[in-house]
Amino acid sequence: MNDKLCNIHKYDARKIDKLIKEPIVDVTVTSPPYFDMKDYGYKEQIGFGQSYKEYLNDIGTVFKSVYACTKSTGSLWVIVDALRKDGEIVALPFDIANKIREAGWIFREIIIWEKDKTVPWTHKGQMRNSFEYILMFSKTDDYKFFIDKIRDYEVLKSWWIRYPERYNPKGKTPDGIWHYPIPTQGSWGKGYIRHFCPLPEDLVARILTLSTEENDVVLDPFSGSGTVLAKALNMNRRYIGTELNSEYISMFKNYIKNTNTEKQSEYEKEKKYLVNQMDFEKIILQLRALKYARILLKKIDDQDVRIVQKIKVEKSSEKCLKKNSVDCYKYTILLSTLKEKEKIEKIINALISKAPLSKFGIDALFSYVDKIDKLISPKEKLYSYSNKITHKFIRGINLDDRINEKEVILSPIKLDIDENEYKEL
Ligand SMILES: C[S@@+](CC[C@H](N)C(=O)[O-])C[C@H]1O[C@@H](n2cnc3c(N)ncnc32)[C@H](O)[C@@H]1O
Repeated sequence: MNDKLCNIHKYDARKIDKLIKEPIVDVTVTSPPYFDMKDYGYKEQIGFGQSYKEYLNDIGTVFKSVYACTKSTGSLWVIVDALRKDGEIVALPFDIANKIREAGWIFREIIIWEKDKTVPWTHKGQMRNSFEYILMFSKTDDYKFFIDKIRDYEVLKSWWIRYPERYNPKGKTPDGIWHYPIPTQGSWGKGYIRHFCPLPEDLVARILTLSTEENDVVLDPFSGSGTVLAKALNMNRRYIGTELNSEYISMFKNYIKNTNTEKQSEYEKEKKYLVNQMDFEKIILQLRALKYARILLKKIDDQDVRIVQKIKVEKSSEKCLKKNSVDCYKYTILLSTLKEKEKIEKIINALISKAPLSKFGIDALFSYVDKIDKLISPKEKLYSYSNKITHKFIRGINLDDRINEKEVILSPIKLDIDENEYKEL
């Protein structure tokens, strides 16, 4: 492997394009040194002993070089706080954002990182400082952004079961306020690192999950204690860092040597969350498909049409053709007579083109039969549902069983969901 990858270099971030001469970086995640704040203890440091203009120009130079070594699908995430000078706010995040835009980056997102506490605690005439900005930029319009991987599906309550058509089957879309407590001094890295302002590991993990895949290259030009690089390593990504303070560099190396095995296995466990998320998505879509049949039956009933006896619901292997549909299902309708097939077809077409059925995201393919043995094949095992509840089957049935009037929906889909279990979440 190229020795530049998976390494932290004692190197000036302003010259990063000399260190990385090709566009190989997938994501840069960094918190730059703040203006006039901290003395990191060496003369080339950005932000200390400089005018604000010099400082911003240096920041601009760094992100211009980062742009040059980033892939066209790459992104840049900058974590930065505003500051006060002589009682007045310095709009540092926005001044930095402008410098970054001048360097060619496209400004995509502002996320608020809400922290529990930070210094200074409070001052006369000021609110407690409780958040920082996460500014996100891309190099082109074609940037990696895997939003589905960070959807929260565990926030589901019982209404997901009753109203599966209302929510994204992959989970809730994350919003732009992220809550992560700041690591307390000494807690981060079990004593391996002592740094002024390490980033929370989980915050970095979320950004890396959103913006990269395994084996991608992660850059942090202002590595500090190396939170970003360590997380990249834990998550099977490659990394490059630059930092001028040798003490931080050796602390970082010591840290990963002692913790990576444990952190990597934590990451492997967390990957299972995505598998669970996919199972959950499948259930939501099945809930929708069965509820679709239930609502359709009710609407037909409301029109006083009494020839529909049962509906069989099956997943179709056909590709969805309808715009905005998420899944395709076959609905086979058992009629008491096929003579009125055209009439019922018309009614159904009118019903499914209007809300609520048009909002289910289901591409429904209908067919009609007039005999139960045309609905159920001899060896087929199905589950029956009533016209009131479609998240819990009544019983398993086959062609030989007497199917009673209440069992109006039949399907190979077996749903047995206890609403109370989900209320706990
Ligand atoms: C805000 S801290 C980064 C903290 C880091 N994100 C973490 O989690 O620990 C900024 C870092 O930039 C470094 N730095 C300042 N000027 C630099 C330069 N010209 N080149 C590389 N690193 C620099 C400082 O030494 C400091 O460690």
